[in-house]
Amino acid sequence: MDEENRRGKISDTPGSTSRRTFIKGVITSGTAVYSAGYLFRSSSVFGGSTRVGERLITLNVNGQQRRADVNRQETLAWTLRYKLGLTGTKLGCDRAECGACTVLIDDVPHYSCSVLTHTVRGRKVLTIESLATADGKLHPVQQAVVDEQGFQCAFCMSGFMMSAVGFLKDNQNPTREQLAHALSGNLCRCCDYNKILNSMMRAAEYTRNGTHV
Ligand code: FES
Repeated sequence: MDEENRRGKISDTPGSTSRRTFIKGVITSGTAVYSAGYLFRSSSVFGGSTRVGERLITLNVNGQQRRADVNRQETLAWTLRYKLGLTGTKLGCDRAECGACTVLIDDVPHYSCSVLTHTVRGRKVLTIESLATADGKLHPVQQAVVDEQGFQCAFCMSGFMMSAVGFLKDNQNPTREQLAHALSGNLCRCCDYNKILNSMMRAAEYTRNGTHV
């Protein structure tokens, strides 16, 4: 029995958590963290005062005006995760190699670990937490990942999804090769690329037809 089938057998064991349930849990937990971020603004979490070298700025993140004390050398990934509580954006390599930190800036995918926060003032930042609606309806890309069970450990998942969301804004009918090329800046440590591409092709279909539920 090959490795993939072996995993399928394990996940189907009665009483165990299936991979589908696991992936859906990871996606929906991002929404909860997003909400919590608004309750615990940076000033209260980090001591309530601006530290030396920091400056209070306003950022447009996920359609909200967010205030944060930001150091001049601070990266957007750091601000999102540790100042705004948006931990759906992951930090892998922290040097523009893995794509785990991908967010959209003015609808274009960027590695947030390699963008200084000050440079995105006045621009529109979208993170993984922006995808699902407030009432829990998943974005077509998220629904496709759930339906195809496209990731294993899922650490890279939000980065892949943000890259796909950015790409599908301009091309909703890609070939598999075009999609693979669009996602080539994202790495998966589990090497689950085939299933990730299945997911994203399904996401393109859902986006094109508006058929996801
Ligand atoms: Fe930004 Fe790896 S954490 S590219």
